Amino acid sequence: MEKLTGLKKLKTAVFISGTGSNLKNLIKFSKIKKTPISINLIISNVNKAKGLKYADQFNIKKKIFNFQNIKNTEKKILILLKKEKISFICLAGFMKILSKNFIKKFNGKIINIHPSLLPKYKGLNTHHRAITNNDKFAGCTVHYVSEKLDSGKVIIQKKIKVSAKDNPTSLAKKVLKQEHKLYLAAIMKIFN
Ligand code: GRF
Repeated sequence: MEKLTGLKKLKTAVFISGTGSNLKNLIKFSKIKKTPISINLIISNVNKAKGLKYADQFNIKKKIFNFQNIKNTEKKILILLKKEKISFICLAGFMKILSKNFIKKFNGKIINIHPSLLPKYKGLNTHHRAITNNDKFAGCTVHYVSEKLDSGKVIIQKKIKVSAKDNPTSLAKKVLKQEHKLYLAAIMKIFN
């Protein structure tokens, strides 16, 4: 990834589907002077996604796409990204799978946060699977997005201990707290 010089921040879009705690965290991070990114666009496939409130709160452009026709939707998103001069994408709890074609267009410039120690537990219900399997450790991963789901090159991971008292909900809470730190660390790692 290109090194950033001076005050130039990379225009970034964040894609969300839900609560948006990672989004909020990224926005706050983008306000710090040393940050390499600015958040200029929020995209969601869910028009009632709670996280969309941060677009209004922080005065960031938002756009909702229903993804009924993926090809058409992605075409529209690509036009919007170009118009807004977006050159970096952070997926943060975005529940749609982007096509090969879309990923190719942004090759190496889309990253995602996943709530497991990849390659373990790709896909959904990661915490439930970790608890069911009596895993001693869980965690989260930030990785580049590639054509195969949750399989792109790992940027950074954080491992945490699963306690005997944990259930999927408590584990999700613990991991999410780490995700917030990890996403920022991943971005700093990419651009420094
Ligand atoms: C996070 O656990 C993320 O890893 C997963 O979905 C959750 C999104 O949380 N992909 P939030 O919307 O950022 O609060």
